[in-house]
Amino acid sequence: MNRRDTRNSSTVKEASPHVLSPFPYAENAFEPIITANTIGFHYGKHHQGYVDNLNKLVAGTEYADMSLEKIIIDTAGRTEKAAIFNNAAQIWNHTFYWRSMRPKGGGEPPAALKQQIEASFGTVDACKKELAIAAVSQFGSGWAWLVLDRDKLKVVKTANAEVPLTTGMKPLLTIDVWEHAYYLDYQNRRADYVNAVLNELIDWDFVLQNAS
Ligand SMILES: [Fe+2]
Repeated sequence: MNRRDTRNSSTVKEASPHVLSPFPYAENAFEPIITANTIGFHYGKHHQGYVDNLNKLVAGTEYADMSLEKIIIDTAGRTEKAAIFNNAAQIWNHTFYWRSMRPKGGGEPPAALKQQIEASFGTVDACKKELAIAAVSQFGSGWAWLVLDRDKLKVVKTANAEVPLTTGMKPLLTIDVWEHAYYLDYQNRRADYVNAVLNELIDWDFVLQNAS
């Protein structure tokens, strides 16, 4: 049964039951950096799984009609709500990750963004290097992020499902470093996956939209 919802835009649906946002490109659009095989499992099984789990977990609870972002903020840091938080945050993180990339991405950021990056990191290469270090050094599963923290761009990394939204920072782009993101294509070579994403897939226009 195809449970993917193709009616909506690429934004996350606001209330329960939550639906899997359409994949923004063809599933082979990120090849050869990320294969359709990886996307098939990562989007079709993992991302879909978080949606299915969350719908089961919130049915009949105070969270049943709450937006995804509100669920994330409300359950963050609460041990007894960890399952709801983890699934809700993973839905949000993955939708944001797909949007952080585009076919034939990478290259030079648009001028307005380049200025912002240079003001915070000195150069675009320094920013990318910091992102790569965060992504490669995240111990175990997690995410590397470029965020806006007040008026400054920063690189942060989070473990498991954690998302900078819960600490008041605005995500601008993310790279998934869970093994399911790269193992089929790169096995243990996380750095090769991260550098390929940074150099050839990042959608700097999406980053600029988020930073504006
Ligand atoms: Fe993932």
